Amino acid sequence: MTEQMAKVASHKGLQRRDWLGWAAALCAGNTGMARAEQAREGLGELAMRTGRRYGFAVDPSYANKEPVQDILRQHCGIVTAENAMKWRTIEGIFGVRDYARADRVAALAANLGMPLRGHTLAWHQSTPGYLANATTDGFVKAQTAHLQELMLRYKGRIHTWDVLNEVIDGERHAYGGMRESVLSARWGVDRYPELFELARSADPEAKLAYNDYGMEQDNDWCERRRTALLRMLESWAKRKVPVDAMGLQAHLDLSRPFSATRLTLFLDSLRDLGLTVQITELDVRDADEAGDVPARDAAVAALYKDFLSTCLSHPAVEMIVMWNVTDKESWINRWPHGRHRADAQPMRPTLFNTDGRPKPAFDAVATALRQAEIRFDKKVSRRV
Ligand code: XIL
Repeated sequence: MTEQMAKVASHKGLQRRDWLGWAAALCAGNTGMARAEQAREGLGELAMRTGRRYGFAVDPSYANKEPVQDILRQHCGIVTAENAMKWRTIEGIFGVRDYARADRVAALAANLGMPLRGHTLAWHQSTPGYLANATTDGFVKAQTAHLQELMLRYKGRIHTWDVLNEVIDGERHAYGGMRESVLSARWGVDRYPELFELARSADPEAKLAYNDYGMEQDNDWCERRRTALLRMLESWAKRKVPVDAMGLQAHLDLSRPFSATRLTLFLDSLRDLGLTVQITELDVRDADEAGDVPARDAAVAALYKDFLSTCLSHPAVEMIVMWNVTDKESWINRWPHGRHRADAQPMRPTLFNTDGRPKPAFDAVATALRQAEIRFDKKVSRRV
């Protein structure tokens, strides 16, 4: 057992069963000159050239299997738990807190020698259903205790926490562009800043992010969402809310136009508020894209290239995280509420085929990272 393996084996919460699986994957994934060669060209290292991190969201159900494990070893610089750190996963039954899955993702990151992106402390979709009819007092107590316990458990291992997720609803003009949900009803929109204050006290070293979707492309829907978001963030800046980063999920869609100029202006607005920008859940939907697989893959790759070239030309952008690793486990094809193709073919949203081979999108991302010249500028953050 190597020193690194021993360190991992002793990691808190790591079960012997998991350890054996990982040890096998570790050995299998580490052989051959060709792999060593590719490792030098890993996306994580390419991103580091301009001071940025590149990573993936994973779930323990597939993270320790090939080809995912090998891809993570070659290309990953930061790990997000896809579902394992969500409140419903940890406390699906009231009062019974189960960290098994979250611990497995934390151990995986430790094994790879990299930090975690914590996802997510407060989100209407991961609030346990049994809290829907809680009193305000009961809800506030439960949400506060959950946030504090989760943050303390992984203190020192988290690069950034998504403190609050998806509270914008650009269509809700009468409601100030804010989403109506269990969080707005029970915690209260005016009290969202308190979540960040609690988070800052629980783990002062972790960066704190607000995370949301539908802000990156160039149609009226995205524009209304950006407007509502900036209004909220400006009011938070006046109140000196301790938020450090804006998480742009970037679930991109080929059916929406993209404008580098429009995105750059938006990134400027976020930087002017003293926020760094993290791309947190990147993938590309090809629900409406006609043509054969090579044509679809080329279109997906082109949007990855345009989007990332724009992001990597901006000094506020500090991180890029992909949502899932290969097309096989992508949530886009698993999520029942999502859009689907008329021809019933699965979408091809990630950088790797279902068998783990890199697609044109991989080359597009590698090229964008290689060509990046503008470094991430830490001084963008109000906090530094
Ligand atoms: C998704 C997961 O990928 C799915 O497995 C799960 O069924 C639903 O949640 N925005 C987010 C993520 O912030 O947490 C969501 O993840 C995708 C959209």
